[in-house]
Amino acid sequence: MKRRILNIACIGAGYVGGPTMAVIADRCPHVSVTVIDLNEARIAAWNSDTLPVYEPGLDEVIRRTRGRNLRFIPQREGAAAVAAADAVFISVNTPTKTQGAGAGKASDLGYVEACARYIAEHALGHTIVIEKSTMPVRAADTIKRILATSPRVGTFDVLSNPEFLAEGTAIRDLEKPDRVLIGGETPAAVDALAEVYAHWVPDQAIIRTGLWSAELSKLAANAFLAQRVSSINAISALCEVTGAQVEEVAKVLGTDTRIGPKFLKASVGYGGSCFKKDLLSLVYLCEFYGLTEPAAYWQSVQDLNEWQKRRFAQMAATHAKKQGRVVAVLGLAFKKNTNDFRESPAIDICNYLLAAGVRLRLQDERVDPHMFGAVLVDDHKAGFDFFSEAAEAVRGADAILVLTEWDQYATLDWRKLSTVAAPGVMIFDGRTVVDPVAASAAGLPVFTVGIGAAK
Ligand code: NAD
Ligand code: UGA
Repeated sequence: MKRRILNIACIGAGYVGGPTMAVIADRCPHVSVTVIDLNEARIAAWNSDTLPVYEPGLDEVIRRTRGRNLRFIPQREGAAAVAAADAVFISVNTPTKTQGAGAGKASDLGYVEACARYIAEHALGHTIVIEKSTMPVRAADTIKRILATSPRVGTFDVLSNPEFLAEGTAIRDLEKPDRVLIGGETPAAVDALAEVYAHWVPDQAIIRTGLWSAELSKLAANAFLAQRVSSINAISALCEVTGAQVEEVAKVLGTDTRIGPKFLKASVGYGGSCFKKDLLSLVYLCEFYGLTEPAAYWQSVQDLNEWQKRRFAQMAATHAKKQGRVVAVLGLAFKKNTNDFRESPAIDICNYLLAAGVRLRLQDERVDPHMFGAVLVDDHKAGFDFFSEAAEAVRGADAILVLTEWDQYATLDWRKLSTVAAPGVMIFDGRTVVDPVAASAAGLPVFTVGIGAAK
């Protein structure tokens, strides 16, 4: 039977649920979209002028859709929206388990299971339940089992429709995705979801697969991306000791059409809420199925990332400890154009420096200082302060660390900054964003990841 999706509910108003539903509402004005979240402060923020997520272009999409065919409501008011929905997206967090079987590696499906129970309780008629969150392969079995306990006389299809957006470019990625992936067992349900995307995504970019392939493809995609960053970071360390330049090497690699130019930027390590958790989830799945060598292979990608952050922090700490033990950290977000600092390399590096007794002067143009301060561990009472301007943060600093590639760091006036920093200050550029010519004209030595020290 042909199905049509005209009414959508989405559980989870986070970095994925909010922007994704906003773009669906924007591109499908005939579809009514309701986003539900347990976190009432977050819902209030989505309904305010200060959205809880910073993404270029998001404000405009929300302005066009909110109050028209998009609304954000708290979970306690969500039952009717789920009952009315032809399709319910599950877009809640799937963090790494902290206890029980698989703790430290496996994905915690507790939030997803709670959504499935909520849908089972409130859905009416036929409902297409869509996995938007990243799930371990065969998670749909768990969802189906819970839906089967529904006290209502509803029926369900379960689809996997993982999200590939990257933060900082979420709206662009959603509006012009490389591909939309829909995994499912019932062609009518797959077609109904494909019809929604077809309002703006070309047919050839909508990939249909089985459920398990869709679930696994998402984990594999993130693992491949993380693996590229770890590969170039492994090469970056070799560049620093041999005189090779990582950007030149990356350019050579990237012009091979089989390799391609993207995701070859050496860095202080990857961050973000997903690469680590999805890699660990993959490692756990391999171990669960007795695949020891594949598990070790994917684990090594994460291990290399930890090593990259540690060696950078060690270098900066060694320099700062020879001087006045004051370090300025420019950039706390895990990448530019987002306020998100989940798993940001800046967290581990700051904590390493605090443990080394170094005082920190922190600056980021989007990250909330109170929230960032809450994840720092300052057992040695070395102390940390936040500044809104880079020029203030570097005052009296013995080392200046650049940990996010915000555009403003490419054009810093190093001559001016050199007059307020401590004598003997050194720049540690973890993002190859600092202008080495301007820094060296100001007499500042720079250590750049993948290049090494230059005076
Ligand atoms: P998030 O933490 O920003 O948002 C999740 C939201 O779900 C929170 O607001 C939370 O309050 C809400 N929630 C949790 N349980 C709930 C429940 N039972 N009922 C109602 N609301 C509930 O997470 P996110 O970054 O949006 O990620 C969501 C999923 O999407 C994860 O599986 C993640 O791996 C995946 N993903 C994230 C990104 C990204 O860029 N952040 C990209 C692709 C995929
Ligand atoms: C990543 C994927 O790119 C998305 O496709 C995926 O949907 C998402 O994870 C997810 O599942 O959450 P995201 O983490 O938002 O998106 O951002 P990326 O652009 O992938 O960057 C991740 C980290 O790798 C950042 O810290 C970034 O600075 C770093 N990175 C990226 C590098 O160090 N070098 C590169 O060449 C690219």
